[in-house]
Amino acid sequence: MKTKQSLTFKLGGQLEINRLGYGGMQLTGTGVFGDVADRENAKKVLQKAVEQGVNFIDTAEAYGPKTNEVLIADALYPYKKDVVIATKGGFERPGPGQWIANGTPAFIRENIEGSLKRLKVDTIDLWQLHRFDPKVPVEETLAPVVEAVKAGKIRYVGLSEVNITQIEQAEKILPIVSVQNLYNLGNRQWEEVVDYTAKRNMAFIPWYPLASGPDKLADKINKIAAKHGAVTSQIALAWLLKRSANILLIPGTKSLEHLKENMAAANIELSEEEFTELSK
Ligand SMILES: NC(=O)c1ccc[n+]([C@@H]2O[C@H](COP(=O)([O-])OP(=O)(O)OC[C@H]3O[C@@H](n4cnc5c(N)ncnc54)[C@H](OP(=O)(O)O)[C@@H]3O)[C@@H](O)[C@H]2O)c1
Repeated sequence: MKTKQSLTFKLGGQLEINRLGYGGMQLTGTGVFGDVADRENAKKVLQKAVEQGVNFIDTAEAYGPKTNEVLIADALYPYKKDVVIATKGGFERPGPGQWIANGTPAFIRENIEGSLKRLKVDTIDLWQLHRFDPKVPVEETLAPVVEAVKAGKIRYVGLSEVNITQIEQAEKILPIVSVQNLYNLGNRQWEEVVDYTAKRNMAFIPWYPLASGPDKLADKINKIAAKHGAVTSQIALAWLLKRSANILLIPGTKSLEHLKENMAAANIELSEEEFTELSK
């Protein structure tokens, strides 16, 4: 008998999380700057996500900046047992749509201490370096992270938007349990990183997971979606779930309706033929 695909993954080989998580970035103002317009609705979306089984929520110091972490704590603290909040540090936000990597140790230390306070936790379950800063050697950037791990302020460490050489550089400094890169049905530039992380039992967390362009894929997706009684966004998520067992999904939405749709993607298991067809 065919076994069903696993819908959980053990982060760091230990923390069991549901592969269908939630990304908090959409719950901010325009250009990922300032607070979200409808804060009460945003809190409801976060609470509903946890109610429906989400136990992995992605955020960052840079979302808002800071407002997204505060919102998550306002909506979910005290956290339900087993809820993992993953945050990031290392980006300055001078204005809407502006992102400047800052990997100086002082900034990274300030980010970590700030995230602990805003999220109201003693330990950050997963802290991710948002970007490598080309102006600062990664050994320097990660020095305060090593200290925070030793002090029990961070449990696991991950990276974002990195190639294999950068993952290997970081691994010389401390253990890495996850990589968060842009990857989806329509954009597969990081195939080799997906395979590398799978081999090393690291989580791969694709950002912008709902994208399914280019248009040339639309016909194929529509046919397969109709067979499953599903919508395009669900097929995009189902394709990622099938792509590799170490992929954790963090689709983001401000809408309770979309949240429900995204959660239901966990019930769609593509056949080998459908997966191959979509992957061409
Ligand atoms: N590491 C990085 O550098 C990085 C960069 C970007 C994002 N991220 C993380 O990745 C998470 C996800 O990325 P993302 O927000 O860019 O992309 P996404 O989750 O793939 O897409 C979000 C967009 O899709 C819409 N949407 C959500 N569910 C839908 C549905 N069922 N049907 C139709 N539209 C739907 C949302 O609008 P509605 O609100 O109207 O639903 C929103 O415009 C973020 O929250 C963040 O945590 C990380």
